[in-house]
Amino acid sequence: MGNGVVVTGTDTGVGKTLVSSALVRKLVQTGCSVGVMKPVETGVLPGQLNESDAGRLLAAAGVSDGIEEVSPYRFLTPLAPLAAASAQGRVIEMQEIMGRYERLASRYSCVVIEGAGGLLVPIGTDWDMRDLIGRIGLPVVLVGRAGLGGVNHALLTLEGLRHRHCAIVAVVLNETALSTAPVQQEQCASTVALLRERAGVPVLGPLPYQPHFGSDWSGAVEALAQSGPIRELADLVWKGPVGRSGSPRRGPEP
Ligand SMILES: Nc1ncnc2c1ncn2[C@@H]1O[C@H](COP(=O)(O)OP(=O)(O)O)[C@@H](O)[C@H]1O
Ligand SMILES: [Mg+2]
Repeated sequence: MGNGVVVTGTDTGVGKTLVSSALVRKLVQTGCSVGVMKPVETGVLPGQLNESDAGRLLAAAGVSDGIEEVSPYRFLTPLAPLAAASAQGRVIEMQEIMGRYERLASRYSCVVIEGAGGLLVPIGTDWDMRDLIGRIGLPVVLVGRAGLGGVNHALLTLEGLRHRHCAIVAVVLNETALSTAPVQQEQCASTVALLRERAGVPVLGPLPYQPHFGSDWSGAVEALAQSGPIRELADLVWKGPVGRSGSPRRGPEP
């Protein structure tokens, strides 16, 4: 088994791709050879590989792996993986994903894998994202919203991970909307404070909302890679040769 992390989220649209891409950039800059994977991606528009999650991860890593190597299941329909696959008469095979992962793990020092949706999103008829995370066996980074509702969503997801004894590296909180009103800023600060008390793992961030992120993705990723929270995350994920000796680093849990 190799080194690396699976980046999951409390929801879709919480910033998994952004955090994964920034983490990958930072790890590459640290001198780590980083492979990326997006095992299942839905809502992929034809001809827009560069704007897809897998395309963004590949760009962040600066690797030339073929899209089918890192993202074997890609669907047009923007539904949960099981539904998107069914709509196209397809079945997602965990073994196929594991084969791709093992090849990447043998070629790179570290593999950063972005999940799809949240933890319990159905992928096969009788398995979900959590089952895949358990099978891959890498520790997990949880990305969650810094605003109101973020405490409950993060704690539920952490409970779901602990229930399966998945190792957890950290929670990364992200501001997914502009919060200028004092009450929103208070909600954000309170979410961070409560999660620091209750998460039981490092809580990093919040990453501030940056309106230009949508129009300059690679610039945003590059800037975020230099930010304190992503540097801390990279440090938790990868300690260099010392961390690599002996058994793989699994984060502070379980
Ligand atoms: N901190 C932020 N500031 C500005 N935009 C953000 C921020 N975090 C996420 N976004 C935007 O929200 C959208 C969803 O982020 P993404 O990383 O793709 O989420 P996920 O991978 O969890 O679905 C993207 O368009 C991204 O540009
Ligand atoms: Mg994504």
